Amino acid sequence: MVSDPIVEKISELKKKHNAIILAHNYQRGEVQDVADYVGDSLGLSQQAAKTDADLIVFCGVHFMAETAAILSPNKTVIMPDEHAGCPMANMITARELRKKKELYPNIRVVCYVNTTADVKAESDICCTSSNAVKIVSSIPEDEEILFIPDKSLGAYVSSCLNREMIYWEGYCPTHHRILADQIVKMKSEHPEAEVVVHPECTPDVIALADNVASTTGILKYANSSNAKEFIIGTEIGILHRLRKENPDKIFMPVTPLSDCPNMKLNTLEKLLWSLEDVQYVVTVPDEIAKKALSAIQRMLDLS
Ligand code: 13P
Ligand code: SF4
Repeated sequence: MVSDPIVEKISELKKKHNAIILAHNYQRGEVQDVADYVGDSLGLSQQAAKTDADLIVFCGVHFMAETAAILSPNKTVIMPDEHAGCPMANMITARELRKKKELYPNIRVVCYVNTTADVKAESDICCTSSNAVKIVSSIPEDEEILFIPDKSLGAYVSSCLNREMIYWEGYCPTHHRILADQIVKMKSEHPEAEVVVHPECTPDVIALADNVASTTGILKYANSSNAKEFIIGTEIGILHRLRKENPDKIFMPVTPLSDCPNMKLNTLEKLLWSLEDVQYVVTVPDEIAKKALSAIQRMLDLS
């Protein structure tokens, strides 16, 4: 096999800095392939919390790197592209959340990890797509819940638990490009295929699914299922691992439009440059980090 000089340099610089590369399941295939760990938001936070590396190179979007910085305050966290944000996370600000809380003084705020650190700092407990049902069910039935910012994940959790919640009107623009009609058409062409979707999809899409799971949950399901064909309703970056880990199975994205442009901002070249210059450093002010940590830690303790 011909070795890639960029990959070699990344590996040298990783040793020099005692660095670990964490990558989300939606990253470009070549970025995933040089990472020490590839996973979903929960797995990435757990890795960030336990690593003994000095430098964490976070290949994902900004809220994920921020969470790593909060969990590892004594380490340096960098992102290859500082502009890789999450539009859903930007659909709520701490100021807007404080105003909403004034209307419901005793409400418990459950925040999806796809939020900025200052929004987490205003929340009671954090959750990810893999543990949202468990986190919400840990809150006593008689307490009212404000679920932020993803109304689709909120509606999914409500339906699983048969429990009302107040939702924020946020959503993922990438997952909302996945349409129920497309799945119905694909299912008629591939009746044996299983439909596996992420809970950020709309309720009509979720209603058609054989399995609803986080990105790592989707991988686990596909790896263990006896089905040979799968219709995949999530961001298309996940196809890299699905196909790599299951060469004998067929994975069909519902639409090639479910491509998150922010996730794809990180390239192998930018990853190399970030290690060369130790940039772009992600920091969270101490006061915010302390408050956000309690919401994140409550989640990790339950996970
Ligand atoms: P996961 O936690 O399932 O990996 O999802 C993160 C995300 O941003 C989905 O759009
Ligand atoms: Fe945010 Fe959606 Fe991209 Fe995930 S896929 S990072 S929720 S915009």
